[in-house]
Amino acid sequence: MMKIAVFGASGYGGQVLMRLLLDHPQISQVMPVSSTSAGTPIDVRDSGLGPDPEGKLPDKRMLLNREEALSRKPDAVFSALPHGASAEFCAPFMDDSVVFDLSADFRLTDRDVHLKAYGTEAPLPEKRNGAVYGLAELYEDEIKASNLIAVPGCYPTCSLLPLVPLSRQGLIDGPVIINAVSGISGAGRSPKETSLYVERSENTVAYSPGTKHRHQPEMTQEIRKAGSDAALFFTPHLAPMRRGMASTIALPLTGNVKISEDRIYDILTEAYADKPFIGLRGRTIPSTRDVVGSNRCDIGWSVEDGIVYLFSVIDNLVKGASGQAVQDFNIRFGFPQTTGLSLRGEV
Ligand SMILES: NC(=O)c1ccc[n+]([C@@H]2O[C@H](COP(=O)([O-])OP(=O)(O)OC[C@H]3O[C@@H](n4cnc5c(N)ncnc54)[C@H](OP(=O)(O)O)[C@@H]3O)[C@@H](O)[C@H]2O)c1
Repeated sequence: MMKIAVFGASGYGGQVLMRLLLDHPQISQVMPVSSTSAGTPIDVRDSGLGPDPEGKLPDKRMLLNREEALSRKPDAVFSALPHGASAEFCAPFMDDSVVFDLSADFRLTDRDVHLKAYGTEAPLPEKRNGAVYGLAELYEDEIKASNLIAVPGCYPTCSLLPLVPLSRQGLIDGPVIINAVSGISGAGRSPKETSLYVERSENTVAYSPGTKHRHQPEMTQEIRKAGSDAALFFTPHLAPMRRGMASTIALPLTGNVKISEDRIYDILTEAYADKPFIGLRGRTIPSTRDVVGSNRCDIGWSVEDGIVYLFSVIDNLVKGASGQAVQDFNIRFGFPQTTGLSLRGEV
């Protein structure tokens, strides 16, 4: 049985982690850690966490500070902190614990790209070479062998899962056009004007197009690793829903590439044959509602007038963050991938 610490347990990603880890059958202790509220019960920051019948929450449900968690030598830590803060917070744990970092601190391998995207030097240069990109369906062997897993961003998870198998087959040589929609929880729990109800309800808006969004270089990195030089045009949008994410990807076919819907079916089926969280939907366009609350990514596709369309949906807080982190944990420690994770969307 394993001992786990969760950093940023009061944020949206941290709250989902706490629920998943408390229900995980291979975990005996879950230590919630806070940089601002240590010494107060977690219920003050997360009133919906509910009972703890197996006594996995130590210290009368108190939030701990980092040093208290460090002294208890957890087997693994999950960091749901903002980028920049996360790597430094995790650093003292890296000798004794496997680190699952939900932030962007270790995702980009090129330090110049990190500097350009985040405006700061890539943290912990001496540690980052050991980090693996934790896109669970695509990097299982690497995750098994690493003690530092950079859990991917939500837009990259949603968009790369349909794209990478096609790219690995050499089928992406034209532009990749991604329009994606996120629920508001993607912006985190910290109060800001743009997250106010009046700003976001009955309102949908594009933001940070192209390389202005930090997930563009992350997706470009992974498409390159999958063998494509294609230019990637990315436009994210915010929609008035709490959770959920949808990517609509258009791939105009060039003269060199021929691809049919049946071929896409064959490629995705082969890539994801033994992957429990991928739902292949063929010509059915999936909805966020199909997957919210689950760790699934559902994928649909069609070919119309010389353009391949790929449609994918996830729950940004589950497969897009905390659920994928737990899936990575299961892979790393040899548990079945589905342990403690839901395959079913909400009704
Ligand atoms: N939301 C999503 O859909 C999503 C998806 C994929 C990845 N992510 C990534 O996951 C991480 C957490 O996201 P989130 O949405 O859960 O954020 P959030 O709701 O804003 O929560 C972040 C938590 O981090 C702690 N914190 C904030 N500033 C800190 C600092 N300077 N030093 C130490 N702790 C600090 C706070 O908890 P305390 O005050 O208790 O310490 C806060 O509750 C981010 O890196 C984000 O990019 C989020």
